[in-house]
Amino acid sequence: METTQVYGMPRIGDAAPEFKAVTTQGDINFPSDYKGKWAILFSHPADFTPVCTSEFMTFASMSKDFEALNCQLVGLSVDGLYSHIAWLRTIKEKIEYKGMKNVEVTFPLIEDITMEVAKKYGMLQPGESATKAVRAVFFVDPKGIIRAVIYYPLSLGRNFDEIKRVLIALQTADNFGVATPADWRPGDDVIVPTAGSCGVAKERMEGLQEGVTCYDWFFCTKKLPKEEVEKKLGK
Ligand code: BEZ
Repeated sequence: METTQVYGMPRIGDAAPEFKAVTTQGDINFPSDYKGKWAILFSHPADFTPVCTSEFMTFASMSKDFEALNCQLVGLSVDGLYSHIAWLRTIKEKIEYKGMKNVEVTFPLIEDITMEVAKKYGMLQPGESATKAVRAVFFVDPKGIIRAVIYYPLSLGRNFDEIKRVLIALQTADNFGVATPADWRPGDDVIVPTAGSCGVAKERMEGLQEGVTCYDWFFCTKKLPKEEVEKKLGK
């Protein structure tokens, strides 16, 4: 009897589903090859399409920023390896866009013609397209745990500055034991975790903790200088 593999969609806090794949930079085992590093696994709908081209040029131009944050980029589409190679060569040799030219994509781009990986990661969303992956972004931490997920539809190019901001915020939360408020960027105040008891909360409100500002008992922030964040995150 034929069996159909049913995949769930990986969620925040799940172990990143494992796979082996052929890429433009050789074979990879994910996430084990990336142990000890952050990885951003992202999908795009198709090679030789305009939104994807603008995204790859932008992401590749920022790849040194991600490396400095101990993060490797891994792309995927359901196209084949030779299509990937031809598209990336065209980008490098022919496309000049928004001041970016001669852009070399040095991070691996997975071929997924069987759609095995795309299905495992919930990148195929039939209401949007049954044959192309949506623009998914998975942030995987050094232990192989999915820490954030963002999905965009086919027509919407991603904001790579936001992707970098999310990575920095996740690393800041891990390194400093804080949370980050709306629109946070390095240098902005961070959120002190909510106190476990009323006594501590009262102390916080009365300003007994140096450098802490409380807006109410459940909402306290403190300064975290940009230089401290950058030093810790290895920039
Ligand atoms: C694009 O990258 O331009 C694109 C890809 C698939 C569907 C729509 C747009």
